[in-house]
Amino acid sequence: MLAVEDVQVRYGAITALRGVSLHVEKDEIVALIGVNGAGKSTTLMTIAGVLKPAQGTITFEGQSIVGRSPEDIVRQGIVLVPEERRIFPGLTVEENLRLGAAIRSDRAGIRQDLEEMCERFPVLGERLGQPAGTLSGGEQQQLAIARGLMSRPALLMLDEPSLGLAPQLVDEIFQLVAQLHEAGVTILLVEQNVERTLEIVDRAYLLNTGEVEYQGAADELREHVDVESSYLGDST
Ligand SMILES: Nc1ncnc2c1ncn2[C@@H]1O[C@H](COP(=O)(O)OP(=O)(O)OP(=O)(O)O)[C@@H](O)[C@H]1O
Ligand SMILES: [Mg+2]
Repeated sequence: MLAVEDVQVRYGAITALRGVSLHVEKDEIVALIGVNGAGKSTTLMTIAGVLKPAQGTITFEGQSIVGRSPEDIVRQGIVLVPEERRIFPGLTVEENLRLGAAIRSDRAGIRQDLEEMCERFPVLGERLGQPAGTLSGGEQQQLAIARGLMSRPALLMLDEPSLGLAPQLVDEIFQLVAQLHEAGVTILLVEQNVERTLEIVDRAYLLNTGEVEYQGAADELREHVDVESSYLGDST
């Protein structure tokens, strides 16, 4: 479905990605893990078209998406829920959700998906008319994910959805991500909570200073990470 080949990304003189290759197949849930500064967000932002690679190719369902605008890439079916969430605090929950569907014109389908989001995320359903800024951190993260889903993405990319949340909410977010996958959403997940992540993903890539240091099935990664745990730090 998604194939990233030998992608290099620079921020001025800093090379953030040094030839990253990865792929995600339909119906998979794949994780990108690694320490702060490894290049995880840079990878997602490059796939989303926010950053342009200096080298390499990115194809989605057989078509090159390098050089396309972020909006075009959303239309292709790839949605990024960024690390900073970027909900609009002054707009209502419903307005935020509707913005997620801005690329769609099927009004009946949008209404139906809105109802589905209210069922899947009861907190949002109860507070549709309230400014999104009044939601708690965990609720805002749910809104950010729900907004992403409103475009009916073929591939959902989540950048550290558990970041900054209380332990109980972290549980909820991991459950939610696992449920979305079971419901048939293909997911590329960036996380620092390695143990929890490896419990819910099929495969993972370990990034280190802009390179894929290791890749494999979740249990292979778990063994590798156990060996390297002093280096990765134990986030659980
Ligand atoms: N706007 C920028 N300008 C210059 N350098 C940047 C910029 N954004 C990121 N970098 C650098 O690129 C590298 C990769 O950053 P990136 O944000 O992709 O890491 P990350 O793996 O997502 O880290 P974190 O876990 O902290 O979110 C880091 O060395 C970072 O300092
Ligand atoms: Mg990041």
